[in-house]
Formats: sequence, structure tokens, C-alpha cells
Amino acid sequence: MTLEAIRYRTGSLQILNQLLLPHQTVYDDIRSVQDAYEAIKSMKVRGAPAIAIVGCLSLAVELRAGAGGDDPVTFIRESLCHLTSARPTAVNMGRAARELMEFAENESMEKNSEQLRESKRQVEDTQGSFFTLKNGLKKLVEPKKNQNNQVNLLSFCSSTVTDTSLCVGVVRSLHTLGRLKRVYCTETRPYNQGSRLTAYEAVAEGIPATLITDSMAALTMREMDITAVVVGADRVVANGDTANKVGTYQLAIAAKHHGIPFYVAAPSTSCDLSLESGRDIIIEVRPPEELTSINGVPIAAPGIEVWNPAFDVTPHQLITGGIITELGVFLPSELQAALTGRLTAL
Ligand code: MRU
Repeated sequence: MTLEAIRYRTGSLQILNQLLLPHQTVYDDIRSVQDAYEAIKSMKVRGAPAIAIVGCLSLAVELRAGAGGDDPVTFIRESLCHLTSARPTAVNMGRAARELMEFAENESMEKNSEQLRESKRQVEDTQGSFFTLKNGLKKLVEPKKNQNNQVNLLSFCSSTVTDTSLCVGVVRSLHTLGRLKRVYCTETRPYNQGSRLTAYEAVAEGIPATLITDSMAALTMREMDITAVVVGADRVVANGDTANKVGTYQLAIAAKHHGIPFYVAAPSTSCDLSLESGRDIIIEVRPPEELTSINGVPIAAPGIEVWNPAFDVTPHQLITGGIITELGVFLPSELQAALTGRLTAL
């Protein structure tokens, strides 16, 4: 069974409401930029590439319905600005916004809505995913001389359900090739992407998977013959420092301690060479309720103060396996040279 995270037919956009997974599979209509903003902000749709795709397509939907009137360029600019503000850490929406704005300012408006639909971003993300997978698989499987060798992976978050999650894509493709023994997926508190989404996909697709809590990761590395840790990324900057779901950093430290290669799988569109180091990345801080309750049920002492950063930065020194992109697998020190000239400047 293949799950679809985003459905688009000319002028009509729907997203799989990830807040209702794994218990309900419900598609929500996105009729406007504001609908998309709310869906992104509330995490009905999540994961860096998916956020950008839904944001751009929501604009196409509104333009097609006639929004913008006599001044569509202003409408596009304000819409893209609004969409980019929904989740500041992932770079993909910001990059897409800049490219679409350039396009809107330079092309005739009659063509805009339909060309937005076929937006360069969507095409690039899809292509990026495909090539990233190929590179990821090669790197993980190649060192194994014995073709029957299977790998055990440990994954974290990065489960956007279906086509836009590269980390899950690596897992799925290894399974299809018969090279995956098992994936250990971390629960990924506080939002539980691992238990709600990765686990959902694994069960739906018959992928051998075991759910663990985040606090079991180091023990799992020691006891379960983990071949590699694979995570996604919301932003990879020039020196290779990588922002991803909070908790990624401690996984990388534990992987280094156990001598397990640590990989980041992300399309080149998630790389941002305009920032020198991870210190420059804006980390989104989310509402306290995500820690103090689950589905509206309180689970913490009333009145406790909460700090809820949604992401952390893994220093490049800990990314020991490499950064898997559609252009190849690079060590953090090789990234800038590898991507220079291939990425449009932010
Ligand atoms: O807050 P989220 O759920 O949007 O965070 C998602 C992640 O951190 C993912 O690992 C990342 O976006 C890569 S998704 C292909």
C-alpha cells in the first residue's frame, strides 16, 4: 500500500492530516494560502520538503481561483512571506519562496498559476528524493561484500509519510531490495513522529520495524548490531552543521561513542550555503502544551515551566557517515565545494 501525503489535481489541493494518524486517515482540503499556513503551523503537514510543496501549491490554488486581482505580484509576495513565517527552521519553504518570487516578477501572469502548479520546487524535490535514495542505498550497501548482508538501521523522526521523506525512503528502498534486516524507529518526543508516522508507514508497508523510546537509543546501538543511524534534515549549512528534529544531536553523540556511522539524508534543496555554521540557524520554539499534554490529556504537573525547541543542531564533526544528497554522499567538509554553483543563492 502506498500512502499519499499530498494530493493535487489542477486547482485542488488536499493533504493527509498527520495530526490524526495513525488512527484516522483523513484528507483535508487546502483552499487558500491561509489554510496552508495553518496546516503547516499546526503540523497537519510536516517535514521540510512537504512544507514547501504544500505552501507553493496553496498559492497556485488561490491564483487559479482568481486571487490577487489587479496586483497578483503583491499578492504572491505577501503570501510567500506569510507561508515562510509558519516554520522558520526548515530552509525549503524560504528557498522556494525566493525562487517563485523571482519567477512571478519576471514572467507573464497568465502563465503563473499553472506554472506554479508544476513548480520547479516540486519537480526538484521529487528528483532530489529519487537520487538521494540511490546515493544513500549505494553508500549503505556497497561496503558489504556479501550480497546477502542485511543492515539494521536506527531512524529518527523524518517521517513525512510517503514521497517526501528521504530517511524513510532509504529504509523503504533497502527493504524492497531485501537488504533491510530491521529499522529501529525512535518515538521522537514530543511530537511522536516516529511512533505515529514512521511506525504507521512501516506497518502499512510490511517493513520490519521496532519502536523504541528516544531514551532507549544508546542501548539499542549497543545491543542491536546497528549498522548506521539515518536522519533527515531541515537545514544543512555551509560547514555541514545540520538542524533536524530535536534529539538528533544526542543520537549523533551516542552513535560516535559506539563507532556507528551517522548519516543525514536530505535533498540539496535543504542545504543553505548562505549560513556559515549551525549557530546561525533560527530554531523554532513550539507551544508548551506539546509537552504538557497528549491529545488534550494533561500529562505533566500543572504550572511547570516548559522549554520546547522543535529542532537542534548536530555539529558537523558528528556526521561521520556523510550527508546523502541527490548529487552524491559528501562528508561535511566536502559539502560546500560539492554544492557551489549548483544551488541558487538564498
Ligand atoms: O517538526 P517537523 O515534524 O516538521 O520536523 C521534521 C523533521 O525534523 C524531519 O526530520 C525533516 O524535516 C526531514 S523530513 C524529510
